[in-house]
Amino acid sequence: MTTPERLDGRRILVTGGSGFIGRATVRALLEGGASVTVADLRAFPDPDVPTVVGDLRDPACRSEAVATGTDTIVHLAAMTSVLRSVEEPVAVYDTNVAATAGLLELARERGIERFVFASTNAVAGDVGDQLIHEGLALAPLTPYGATKAAAEMLMSAYGASYGLQACALRLTNVYGRGMGVKDSFIARLLRHAKAGTEAQVYGDGEQRRDFVFLDDVVRAFTQTCGDGCSGVLVVGSGHSVTMNELLDEVRAVTGAALPARHTDPKPGEMRAVRVDVSRARQAGWEPQVDLRQGLTETWRDARGWADPSAP
Ligand SMILES: NC(=O)c1ccc[n+]([C@@H]2O[C@H](COP(=O)([O-])OP(=O)(O)OC[C@H]3O[C@@H](n4cnc5c(N)ncnc54)[C@H](O)[C@@H]3O)[C@@H](O)[C@H]2O)c1
Repeated sequence: MTTPERLDGRRILVTGGSGFIGRATVRALLEGGASVTVADLRAFPDPDVPTVVGDLRDPACRSEAVATGTDTIVHLAAMTSVLRSVEEPVAVYDTNVAATAGLLELARERGIERFVFASTNAVAGDVGDQLIHEGLALAPLTPYGATKAAAEMLMSAYGASYGLQACALRLTNVYGRGMGVKDSFIARLLRHAKAGTEAQVYGDGEQRRDFVFLDDVVRAFTQTCGDGCSGVLVVGSGHSVTMNELLDEVRAVTGAALPARHTDPKPGEMRAVRVDVSRARQAGWEPQVDLRQGLTETWRDARGWADPSAP
């Protein structure tokens, strides 16, 4: 993987470019010299960035988005809520699998060189205390994880059958600037810290998770756009913490008391997510921001978040 400076002249479509990871990725790709188009349900905040506003489940929207001359698709658009995927398995299939299949087919028809995809370590399912790496069999536990695994399989076939350079980045829990509207654990903790309210923790809080900082994830995308890769890379901090440790870190960074109420464990919740990022390291990517630094920066941003009273 190389640096974003090598993106001069590249024409990149970013689906989901108006979302949390998308906005930061688009900005980094532009800084790297690429021409970027966004396709999203929502307009990109900067009107100078061309955006196809529409639903990628619609073939006409996909066709408009994948303009002639595009060489790379960074596919981030997705239904991202695991909970919603359990409630609406067909809807998550339509967005995360059928729309992805449609984009891959356009990539084949229109000679797109590279397809970079935001996948998740949830494709591996519950592996106990084992380190999660690219070689594990896929055994997702939720419709969300299953749709990401299905999309990876389609990408593998388009790579093997049609020579598309297809790379799936399996992300852990991403946090950072601009996550104010997200429902993820760190966003909720920061909203509680801001509002002076009590956080809720499932079970004993000893479950381990990997939290990776937004800038590190963005660099994984920009580097993959520059160098390409094929197959799968696990992208995480490589350093898991327990929920109790995370609470202490958030208290240290924010200065908030952040009382925590432990509730019943969530049935089926994984005890540990620990990832091995050595393949991404071999490809030249390195997580650079540790949890303390990342939380400090996210907290700085959180002070401007709109609604402190609604964790
Ligand atoms: N945030 C994380 O911790 C995390 C972890 C693993 C994987 N991912 C993956 O990374 C990607 C980006 O995640 P995010 O956190 O930025 O999510 P996000 O919800 O902030 O952004 C997703 C964007 O996709 C757009 N979108 C959704 N459905 C669409 C459709 N049918 N047509 C057009 N646009 C559509 C949304 O409007 C939104 O702007 C997703 O694919 C997600 O599954 C995220």
